[in-house]
Amino acid sequence: TAPRCGSRSFSRSCSCPPWAVPAPTARATRNTAARSPRIPRGKEPLPGTLFLRVISRCAYRITRAVSLYVFGSALQSLPRQWVLRGHSHWSYEDLKHWSTDYSDCGGTKQSPINVDTAQATFSPDLRPIQLSGYSLPANKQLKLKNNGHTVVLELPESLALTGGYAQQYRAVQLHLHWGSPLGPGSEHTINGRRFPAEIHVVHYNTKYDSFTEAMVHPDGLAVLGAFLEVGHGENQYYHEILKHLFEIQEVGQETLVPGFNIAGLLPANLKLYFHYNGSLTTPPCYQTVKWTIFNQTMLLSHNQMSMLVSSLRTDDDKLLQSNYRPVQNLHGRRVLASFQTTPLVKHAPGSDDSATAEGHSSSFHAGDVLAVLFGVLFAVTALAFLLYIYKHRSQNTRLDSPTKSKVIYTAASTENTA
Ligand SMILES: *[C@@H]1O[C@H](CO)[C@@H](O)[C@H](O)[C@H]1NC(C)=O
Ligand SMILES: *[C@@H]1O[C@H](CO)[C@@H](O)[C@H](O)[C@H]1NC(C)=O
Ligand SMILES: [Zn+2]
Repeated sequence: TAPRCGSRSFSRSCSCPPWAVPAPTARATRNTAARSPRIPRGKEPLPGTLFLRVISRCAYRITRAVSLYVFGSALQSLPRQWVLRGHSHWSYEDLKHWSTDYSDCGGTKQSPINVDTAQATFSPDLRPIQLSGYSLPANKQLKLKNNGHTVVLELPESLALTGGYAQQYRAVQLHLHWGSPLGPGSEHTINGRRFPAEIHVVHYNTKYDSFTEAMVHPDGLAVLGAFLEVGHGENQYYHEILKHLFEIQEVGQETLVPGFNIAGLLPANLKLYFHYNGSLTTPPCYQTVKWTIFNQTMLLSHNQMSMLVSSLRTDDDKLLQSNYRPVQNLHGRRVLASFQTTPLVKHAPGSDDSATAEGHSSSFHAGDVLAVLFGVLFAVTALAFLLYIYKHRSQNTRLDSPTKSKVIYTAASTENTA
């Protein structure tokens, strides 16, 4: 029989992430069939607000099961949002129920997490991330869609991760998480700080045939994450996506985007990053993701950030906002850093996030300058002090001896009480 999405256990049978992209070519038909939801397990809580949703979900599933039986593969030509609705029933207001429907969401290796930079282990073995095939020609059209949870850009299989990981990974898609005009919306946080938004570029291990197969294996996925902040000036790469958002305001809508350099959506510095073992941050929350969180952030204009936060709508015709999952418990997991996270300049005046984010070379440079500056200051102070002592002593030698002994006595007493 055709392998189902997450066929390894029953709890995984209903559970493809909403942004799962069926692999192109021959696998596509198989995967589309595999994405059909099954009859619910009846473990659903039925408080008032959920009642209608559950009813409509059951109705949907029964209708779908019957029509699948009657019409067979003809079903695959149904509008895309019908298929999407089948497994988009979870929501960010509904976080507590995720682990009821998807057992992995209650696991001990969940994402996102807070990265405590002081607790991160410096690991010199973490090599710079290498991206290949990320620069796409304009005649290569990419599908961009609103799936009700985020905006997804499908990526061709030619994009690959060729460095930084022990194995090779192929890209499938990228998507974003954001907040609202009232607050930031990154998923990961750094030392408790949430950033305005976050990009995730999803890859799967080339030793598996497809994303859906890879995502159930512990070494299946690699996701690159970077934070988006507000700075001066438009970001031309993000513009390539943001300018199309108005075309896909409604759930299920999609449009085509001409190819561009996808690497431009990620930081220029791919050497500085955090690494840990975690999960998908949306149901089914499979704990199969090797995460890379870049230390350098991306800058978007204020306008661009507003566009991201206020363009798309959800199923219930609200603005799609604050689509992030809260940080999850580490449960003893280690977070590695490809760089020394506690440089000497950390608490020096004038050093801020943007300065340290520029990386090793610049912070060492700043460190050198500061060291010289403080060295010179110290030397000048010491010299002034010595001159002062010398002057004082030569003054004292000119005075009579009783005064001199009195001066010495005063100095000693001050020292004792200090
Ligand atoms: C992640 O899991 C793999 C396989 O269990 C393990 O070898 C590796 O050390 C883990 N990485 C971290 C950062 O804990
Ligand atoms: C980058 O690393 C520095 C040094 O550990 C840290 O202070 C800063 O918060 C980090 N920023 C991000 C976005 O990771
Ligand atoms: Zn994500």
